[in-house]
Amino acid sequence: MRKIGVRLGSNSYNIHIGLGLLMQTGHLLKENGFAGKLVIITNPIVKRLYGSALKQNLAKEGFKVTVLQVPDGEEQKSLEVAARLYTDLSDLYCERTTPILALGGGVIGDLTGFVAATYMRGVPLIQIPTTLLAQVDSSIGGKVALDHGQLKNRIGAFYQPRLVISDISTLRTLPTKEFIGGLAEVIKYAVIRDKEFFAYLERNLDQIKSLDERLLEEIVYRSSQIKAEIVEKDEKDLGLRNILNYGHTVGHAIESASDFKMGHGKAVALGMLAAGRISNTLGLLDRNELIRLKGIIQRADLATELPNLEVGRIVQAIRHDKKVLRGKLRFILPKALGSVFITDEVSLSLVEQVLVNWNEET
Ligand SMILES: NC(=O)c1ccc[n+]([C@@H]2O[C@H](COP(=O)([O-])OP(=O)(O)OC[C@H]3O[C@@H](n4cnc5c(N)ncnc54)[C@H](O)[C@@H]3O)[C@@H](O)[C@H]2O)c1
Ligand SMILES: [Zn+2]
Repeated sequence: MRKIGVRLGSNSYNIHIGLGLLMQTGHLLKENGFAGKLVIITNPIVKRLYGSALKQNLAKEGFKVTVLQVPDGEEQKSLEVAARLYTDLSDLYCERTTPILALGGGVIGDLTGFVAATYMRGVPLIQIPTTLLAQVDSSIGGKVALDHGQLKNRIGAFYQPRLVISDISTLRTLPTKEFIGGLAEVIKYAVIRDKEFFAYLERNLDQIKSLDERLLEEIVYRSSQIKAEIVEKDEKDLGLRNILNYGHTVGHAIESASDFKMGHGKAVALGMLAAGRISNTLGLLDRNELIRLKGIIQRADLATELPNLEVGRIVQAIRHDKKVLRGKLRFILPKALGSVFITDEVSLSLVEQVLVNWNEET
């Protein structure tokens, strides 16, 4: 088992990463001072796979467990669903000290986190992420949110969990599409912060894709460390934390221009490549590194071909994005593999040029 401390003053917590950790949850909770009643929030898919094992482990350690379920899917990140959960928690006589465990992917984590942040002005939140994306990204850093109509993550808070437990074994049952999507974020961490890690991914990608558990533990550990380090320096997303948006400016635009038919990971991969090409056009990222970036995205089975969308629609979506400031965009560009910077100097026309010439580019 590996452990990472996230140092945020009185909001500090540990991330535990390892194989079969679900079966140590009761012990870890007791070690962190929890006892008595607790509530697990999950969905039917995750409950069927891991619900009873987790419940048994917690019962064995003396906890009194209630499992609440919401259906699967992004639509559950709504105020209506949160309201139903508040009612359930009240009916169960949950108190300010009753911990709530989020067992599932980022949807369950964000929804449960929001409910935990607001029910009785905040109750202890334990993240038990079961997707690669949730383990390396959404469970760490305290952003919790609901969607509001078409606006993703519009209603939310910063609310740090008290503990994160990432059981690598749960990744075995993940649909391939979800696993590959999570790999996009792993590649993102390497590009923004760690050249060695990028080379490690290049060397080991095939085994990672075949779900070698030792390697999975390593990539979740390294990615979580990078996210934790950035969050520690900028908890409230006022500066440095922006670099986690690498690939997401163009990525989000492609996602929404495709009416969300293209998954987040694939869209972010295209966004990372677009930012790489913009950087190369500006004379920053060198051509060899751009080729390596494209290579790893390709080998991860993420997208490098732009889907059949009108470039105009993508540009329009970028324009609507909150990151546009007076015709200039907030962009995260790689200077080199392992190092990025934030700039407001990328024009929409340069982005458009890169998208129009997509098929002729490196
Ligand atoms: N809070 C943050 O900082 C942050 C960061 C990134 C993304 N997010 C949010 O995360 C969400 C996406 O999360 P996600 O990609 O985990 O999607 P998800 O939660 O929808 O999970 C993907 C699918 O995998 C299933 N699943 C989960 N664990 C499984 C397992 N071990 N085996 C088999 N199936 C499993 C889920 O039921 C679901 O069908 C979005 O709502 C996004 O906004 C939040
Ligand atoms: Zn993302």
